[in-house]
Amino acid sequence: MARPTLARVSPENIRHNAHRVRELAPQSRIMACVKADAYGHDIVTAAKALSGNVDGFAVACIEEALILRSHSIDKPVLLLEGPQSADEISEAAAQNLTLCINEWHQLAWLEQSALPAPLRCWLKIDTGMHRLGFKPQSVPGVLARLEANNKASDLVLCTHFSSADLPGENGVPEQLECFDNAIVDTSYPQSTANSAAILRAPASHREWVRPGYMLYGGSPFANVKPAELGLKAAMEFSAEVISIRDVPVGDCVGYCGRWEAKRPSRIATIAAGYGDGYPRHAPDGTPVFIEGIRLPLAGRVSMDMITVDVTEHPGVHIGSRAVLWGDNPGVDEIARLADSIGYELLAGMPKRVPRITSG
Ligand SMILES: Cc1ncc(COP(=O)(O)O)c(C=O)c1O
Repeated sequence: MARPTLARVSPENIRHNAHRVRELAPQSRIMACVKADAYGHDIVTAAKALSGNVDGFAVACIEEALILRSHSIDKPVLLLEGPQSADEISEAAAQNLTLCINEWHQLAWLEQSALPAPLRCWLKIDTGMHRLGFKPQSVPGVLARLEANNKASDLVLCTHFSSADLPGENGVPEQLECFDNAIVDTSYPQSTANSAAILRAPASHREWVRPGYMLYGGSPFANVKPAELGLKAAMEFSAEVISIRDVPVGDCVGYCGRWEAKRPSRIATIAAGYGDGYPRHAPDGTPVFIEGIRLPLAGRVSMDMITVDVTEHPGVHIGSRAVLWGDNPGVDEIARLADSIGYELLAGMPKRVPRITSG
């Protein structure tokens, strides 16, 4: 018997979310972000689900790209962080990968490489995130070098927003203006939009959009539910009730006795904890969906288990399935309660939790 703890991943919902991207940005090609194991959903499952619906896949590093190639994913694969060494350029060429050139040393590696043919490249411009990319004033010089050297083909000019998910003044118009000024005399395709910008900043869509979180059904906005954005959760993380006990008034539950019974209580123990990616900082009251209702977490999250106050629901029994996140509660809701973000919870889910493909 396997441990009753699993993450069910829905390729259908991932595809639904990709259709949503198409609806929102019908003129753009889609570079689907499947880095960090497709935000915890399993990179191969996600890439296979999306193969017919997107135009390429973005990963952080060559190791992730090689997983895609070894599973016969032959669409364009973009290395967002670019090559990490000169050697990676020939490996990228052998695997027909696309490199993002972010830094001067990466440009020099590309120029010095001995490639049989030019390699597809994107060029990153730093318009305010100050993480990666060339300064706007350097762009004409970098482009002149790339054009003279003939090592890069199918160039795309890109940038990344720092705060597109924030309400009100989020810097997107300023970053776009900076981008447009930097590339004013060029006619290369462009890419700027992440999920938040796809959803809220149509002026940013350009030739390529780069959705990540929304493909998995998460809302990038603090007070907006995925359903309000037309998105469907692609993962349901659940486990079973493995013990039920009565706890008398005044007794405490779990490490350090954080939760105390104020009435005769029934506590269910569920086989998932922070060792499975459930956030250790989830407070008492964090909802867990069991037998049709939301019931409150009671006591500290342990490595392998959580405890839930099921006094209100006599129907909960050993073997009841408890949804930790999915449609209800959503991962964004759990993350917010635990002072995290859904991105972190999903990307941090360990391999111990089997990803089961549904449908
Ligand atoms: C360069 C780049 N583009 C696109 C994305 C996708 O962002 P999101 O998951 O918010 O859609 C990311 C995510 O971190 C990124 O780093």
